This record gives sequence, structure tokens and C-alpha cells, in this order.
Amino acid sequence: MTLLFAFPEQAALARIMSIEQGDWEWRHFPDGESYVRILSAVRGKPAAILCSLNQPDTKTLPLIFLAQTLKELGAAKVTLVAPYLGYMRQDTRFHEGEAVTSETFAVMLSRYIDALITVDPHLHRHHDLKESYTCECKSLSAASLMAEWIGKNIKHALIIGPDMESEQWVKEVAEEVQAPYIVLQKTRHGDRDVEITLPDIGRYKNHTPVLIDDIISTAATMIKAVELLKAQGFADITCLATHGLFAGNAYDALQKAGAAQIITANTIPHPSNGMEVAELLAAECVNPRYGEQSRQ
Ligand code: R5P
Repeated sequence: MTLLFAFPEQAALARIMSIEQGDWEWRHFPDGESYVRILSAVRGKPAAILCSLNQPDTKTLPLIFLAQTLKELGAAKVTLVAPYLGYMRQDTRFHEGEAVTSETFAVMLSRYIDALITVDPHLHRHHDLKESYTCECKSLSAASLMAEWIGKNIKHALIIGPDMESEQWVKEVAEEVQAPYIVLQKTRHGDRDVEITLPDIGRYKNHTPVLIDDIISTAATMIKAVELLKAQGFADITCLATHGLFAGNAYDALQKAGAAQIITANTIPHPSNGMEVAELLAAECVNPRYGEQSRQ
């Protein structure tokens, strides 16, 4: 029976996953260093660490301490369940001298864990986590959760992907809800500076636009897409994303830009959470299918 060691931010998700929880302690010494102690007996048992890797710089060290200690205490297997996997976007050297952090992060984590389970990792130039991670890997997809949400909440949806990378989710979701879809062209000039082109979509004027992306970070992508849709006369615009990072005031800014609804999966706790990943993650923890194709 797998024992689940949840980081504090994931306490609510861990409860819904209904997997027996391991007891551990993480606190800081007065000088800011982490103190980690495992209180449950783990020898011979598979252990899973539940830690979403948004804000990864603050969580990675305690995560490594926990994983290494689980191994030292005899856990049969250490799986990292990271509903959101950070450090996936800097996957190449865009400018001379830059660190390719996604590679270094993958090498580092792979050293301490036996397996990784995550949801919609940002695979862009790479197609599979196994290109960077040397542990067993499983990428789950939130597409079915998105389709379910749209089916329950939106009539006559027009599914829109804000950039070519989103086509993988958009196509799958559109097929599942039997709705038309379009994918826009995006050029990113900087962290908060994106250019998107929207063709004339007047033929869909009786549809409700639903923008779908894997990540909302600065929300620059969603904001630009919402503005373009409004300029074509659409008012009731929904934004759906697997991971709501919402850097700084991104959530407010997207609401102010005119998004009627902003819904994310609970891979990162946020008031916008409206799609539940617990069942997806729990099923994979209890019955891993690493050998199978990475994307579902
Ligand atoms: C980009 O390739 C991703 O799929 C998202 O579109 C992007 O991460 C969103 O970032 P932001 O909210 O900062 O525009």
C-alpha cells in the first residue's frame, strides 16, 4: 500500500486522493534552512510525495531531502506526484549564455526519485518527459476534465487555442465535446509581451468562445486573446487552463480584460480551481502504467 507524503500546500488535494498518508515534518531552522523528518514507518513500502512544483525554488530542496530520506529509510519506491511540474519552459538556450534549466532540473530530480507522475507538463520542443527525466514518467492529461466542464457549463462552445502549442489539448477537447475549434498564431516578444492574430470568426457568432491553454502565468496570452475576441463582438468569454500560476496580478488583469469565467484544474491551489485532478492522480499512484504511452 502506497504511503502519500503531501506538502502542506497539497493537504486538500491529498485528502481527496484518499490514499493513506505518511506522517512527516518540514520546518525551518532559525537560519532559514529546512528541517525534514519522516515519522511513519516506510521500510519496504512504496512512497509517493505530493508536491506541486509551482514556486519550485522554495520547494525543491525540501523535496529532495524528503525523497532521499525515504530511500535511506528503506522505502520500496519513491514516486514524485507533481500535479504541476515546474522548470519545463526554459528547454533550450534561446540566447547565448542562458541556463537550460529544464534539463538541469530533470537531471537533479531524476537522481532522487524512481518515478514521476504529472499533469500536462509543458512539452514543447521535447515530446516526452523521458527525453530529460531518467526515472519512470507518466504524463496525465486534463483534457477530459476540460471536456467534462465544458459539457456541463457551456452551450454551443467554440474551442480556441491561443497558440500552436495548445492544439494538442484543443483538438482533443473539441472532439470530446463535439464542438468546432480554431488555433491562433502567437508570437512571444517577452515575458509579458505577446502578439496574437485572430482571423475573422464572424461565422461563429452564435457560439460561446472557450479559450484553452495548459498554463496561465502572466495571463498575457489569455488577455490578448480575450481582447481580440471582444473586438469581434464576443462578450461571454471563458478561459480554461490546467495550471493557474497567475503571476503577480495576472488573475485580476484577466478578469478586467473581460474574461467572464476563469477556470483552472486544482494542480495549483487557487480560487479559480474548478476541475478536480485528485481521481486522475490517485488512480495512477495506486495502479501505475508507466510502460504505456506518455500522453493519455
Ligand atoms: C506557452 O507556450 C504556454 O502554452 C502558455 O500559453 C503560456 O505559458 C502562457 O503564459 P502567459 O500567461 O505568461 O502568457
